[in-house]
Amino acid sequence: MKSILLAALLAFVSFAPQAQAFDDVRELKVVMEEMGNIFKALGKSVAQGKVGAPELASARQLVKLVEESATLLPDLSTFPNRDAAAKRYLDLTAQLLVVMKDAEAAISRADAAAALAALEAAKELRKLGHDEFKL
Ligand code: HEM
Repeated sequence: MKSILLAALLAFVSFAPQAQAFDDVRELKVVMEEMGNIFKALGKSVAQGKVGAPELASARQLVKLVEESATLLPDLSTFPNRDAAAKRYLDLTAQLLVVMKDAEAAISRADAAAALAALEAAKELRKLGHDEFKL
């Protein structure tokens, strides 16, 4: 009985750090969902001319989420050339990062028109990304 308990304890201890590491990596779907919610709310506010502290915080959060999405890859199993598809995913993500940083900079100087233009550019990239990755 004692040895069974010991074996169970050992199994738990040796497995626990791996489970922890795995937990730190979120699925792309989860990151995108969060991005989608913040993006929608920010778009509404900026369209109403709001470019204050809450909008800046949202834009900064979006930059972080795009950075997180650049550490992940979608399911590429249906693509004949997975390397090219991965490269294209990362290329679009890099473009999105530039545009989100533009939105952040525009909001930080309270330039609603420039912020709106950057968010429109982000929408174009979203469309491209979602079309190409078949969403
Ligand atoms: C403003 C930019 C973007 C927003 C707000 C956005 C938002 C979203 C949302 C809401 C989902 C759906 C999650 C779900 O319920 O299944 C999603 C999924 C996804 N998006 Fe985006 N997206 C953006 C840009 C992009 C770009 C540029 C790409 C490609 C480079 C991309 C690739 C994907 C992929 C592959 C999924 C499916 C993930 C999965 O289910 O595993 N997205 N995105």
